Amino acid sequence: MPFGTRTLNDGRKIPEIGFGTWKIPQDACNGQVTQGIEVGFDHIDTAQAYQNEEQTGQAIAAAGLKREELWVTTKFSGRLGTGASAVRKSCLESLQKLGLDYIDLYLIHSPRLCDGDIRGTWKEMEKLKKEGLVKSIGVSNFEIKDLKVLLKHADIKPVVNQILYHPYVSASTQPLIDFQDDHDIAFEGYSGLIPLTGRQGGPVDKPVDEIAKRLGLQPEQVLLAWSRAKGAIIVTTSSRSDRLTRYLGVGDVKLTDEDIHSIDKAGRKGEEKEKVWQMCKTAGKVVLLGGLGVYGLAKYVL
Ligand SMILES: NC(=O)c1ccc[n+]([C@@H]2O[C@H](COP(=O)([O-])OP(=O)(O)OC[C@H]3O[C@@H](n4cnc5c(N)ncnc54)[C@H](OP(=O)(O)O)[C@@H]3O)[C@@H](O)[C@H]2O)c1
Repeated sequence: MPFGTRTLNDGRKIPEIGFGTWKIPQDACNGQVTQGIEVGFDHIDTAQAYQNEEQTGQAIAAAGLKREELWVTTKFSGRLGTGASAVRKSCLESLQKLGLDYIDLYLIHSPRLCDGDIRGTWKEMEKLKKEGLVKSIGVSNFEIKDLKVLLKHADIKPVVNQILYHPYVSASTQPLIDFQDDHDIAFEGYSGLIPLTGRQGGPVDKPVDEIAKRLGLQPEQVLLAWSRAKGAIIVTTSSRSDRLTRYLGVGDVKLTDEDIHSIDKAGRKGEEKEKVWQMCKTAGKVVLLGGLGVYGLAKYVL
């Protein structure tokens, strides 16, 4: 089924795949966002922190689309200060930089930006929605404990939590996704291509390559199809138009249960390996510090 939209808990429909502007240099951003829109993306994901909202806005304006034809997400990232008092001015600045009357989805980029006051910060987000400056509100990088605090005090539930999601974190992220399902909070998955961009040579490569070969796809398409099959609204990006076209083609890719299971299994293996590696590193540090301590003590005593 081609990519369509997902209905959020406030009734609004978000396009199931978005083009992200993280790390795009300012001088390349207008061109890359324009390319994304031309290829067929109708969902742009930016943030105050990416420092390219202005160039993103220029590309949006130049595209000449009706406002309702493009979904624009941006995020409160703390560049004008953190905590409740910085939310409104940050949103106004993003609107001005993007050149928009409203933002489709406004996210708190990370719980740490709430300065320990999730309740107060979320109240400010709710006000923005009530005023119509933003149409939907959500969060990013929130854990279960953060969502629990938020939900306890919220009049309006977040529509999404945008989180890191790829096969090497999927098992440990599942409790969060289950919690979100129980509360009708969708999840957006970012950095889904980590097995190709940062963890090359890991156990996920083998099943992904085999599936790609069998279906005549590129590995990045298999990974995005896996994210989609797991329920993610995908947030990805590329500087290359051929890749962007292939990403959109993932809408027509159907993985079997066996395919999904084989990637899950390889991801779990990678997660376990990583855990063991981290434990060894910690143990190594303890031994080293202990050794230094004994050495220091010995020097002092003897
Ligand atoms: N909320 C948050 O905290 C947060 C954090 C991170 C990201 N995000 C959002 O998610 C978006 C995507 O993040 P991401 O860049 O980490 O996503 P990603 O989808 O994991 O990676 C995209 C990158 O993968 C590369 N790529 C694609 N196919 C490849 C292949 N076969 N081999 C090697 N590289 C390949 C692309 O490079 P080319 O340009 O060369 O094609 C592109 O730069 C961001 O722009 C941002 O909007 C949000």
